[in-house]
Amino acid sequence: MRVLAIESSCDESAVAVLDAERGLLAHELYSQIELHRLYGGVVPELASRDHVRRLVPLVRAALVEARSTRADIDGIAYTAGPGLIGALLTGAALARSLAYAWDVPAVSVHHLEGHLLAPLLEPDPPAFPHVALLVSGGHTMLIEVRGIGAYRLLGETRDDAAGEAFDKTAKLLGLPYPGGPELARLAESGRPGAYAFPRPMLDRPGLEFSFSGLKTAVSLVVKAPGLDPARRADIARGVEDAIVATLVTKALRALEATGLDTLVVAGGVGANRALRDALSIAAARQGLRVHYPRIEFCTDNAAMIAVAGLARLTAGEHAGLAIEARAQWPLESLHVPCRAEGTANES
Ligand code: KG4
Ligand code: ZN
Repeated sequence: MRVLAIESSCDESAVAVLDAERGLLAHELYSQIELHRLYGGVVPELASRDHVRRLVPLVRAALVEARSTRADIDGIAYTAGPGLIGALLTGAALARSLAYAWDVPAVSVHHLEGHLLAPLLEPDPPAFPHVALLVSGGHTMLIEVRGIGAYRLLGETRDDAAGEAFDKTAKLLGLPYPGGPELARLAESGRPGAYAFPRPMLDRPGLEFSFSGLKTAVSLVVKAPGLDPARRADIARGVEDAIVATLVTKALRALEATGLDTLVVAGGVGANRALRDALSIAAARQGLRVHYPRIEFCTDNAAMIAVAGLARLTAGEHAGLAIEARAQWPLESLHVPCRAEGTANES
C-alpha cells in the first residue's frame, strides 16, 4: 500500500508519499508564513487561494521525489478537519478528484490524529498505550492514546492554546508572526526569574490549562517605561518558563494519573527547545520515556497525515465519493480503523 497525503488545514500546503514497506518516500511543503506576516496572523481567504495555487505543483513534486507515478498510488489521504473551512476544502476537493481520476480510495484524516501519530515515523516509535501532550497553535490537550483511533481526552485548555500564548505574547513584544519560535529565540538571552509570570491552574488538581492570564500579565509589563532589548529578552524568558513549567507539570500529572510511563509530545510547540530540555530532565529523574516527531514534523506537514491515512486505508476505510471538510471535529469521535463504507472515521 502506497498513499499520497494532502494537508491544507491552515497556512501550510503539504503533500507526502508513504509506503507501508519502504516508509516515507517524499514530503513536500510550502509555508504561507510570508503571505500572512503582513497581517500578523492567518487570513483565511488568502490561505485558501494560496493552497489552490500550491497544491497541484506539490503533488507533482512529491511524485517525482518518491520516484512514483500515479499508477503506484493505492490511496489518497487528506486532512478533513479541524481547521479553516475554505483551506480544508481546497485539499479535500483535490484529494477526492485525484482519487476519482486515479480510481483509488480516498480517506479523510483528522488533523490532530496526524499530529498524534507523527512520532510513528521515527526509528524508535512510541509503544501504546501512552499519554500525548498535543500543543499547537489551536490546541493544548493531554490525551490517553490507547492505540490508533482510541483517544481519551484527559484535559485541555479553557482558553488560549499554548502556541497561541506564545504567539500573542510575542506580538506584544513586537516580534513578527508567527511569534512562538521568535519568542523562544529571544528568551535564550533572557535571565531566568527576572519576571515571574503566572503559572495558571498549577495550584489546582486536574489536567486543564489556562493561558489567557499570561497575555494580560505581559501586556502590563510591556507598557512600563524602559523596555530595552535586555528587558524584552527577560520578559520572553519569563513567558517561556511559565508556559513550559505548566506543560511539564500537567504532563507529568497525566502520566501519574494514568499509570503510564511513555509521553508523546506533538504539535508545533513540541519544537520548543526549553520544553524538550525540561521534559528530558524530568524523564531522566522519573524513569519515563518521551517521544517527539523530528522537528519538521512537529509543525503542520503531510507526512503525519499519510501515517494516519495509511492505517485507515489499510483497514479498508474510505470516505466514499464525499468531499469531507469540518471546521470542528472532536478527536474523541474517532474510532479504531475499520472497514466502513461511505463515511469517514466518525462513530
Ligand atoms: O502544529 P502547528 O504547526 O499548527 C497548528 O496546528 O496550530 O503549531 C503552530 C504553533 C504556533 O503557535 C507556533 O508559534 C508554535 O506552534 N511554535 C513554537 C515553536 N515552533 C512553533 N512555539 C514555541 N517554540 C517554538 N520553537
Ligand atoms: Zn497542526
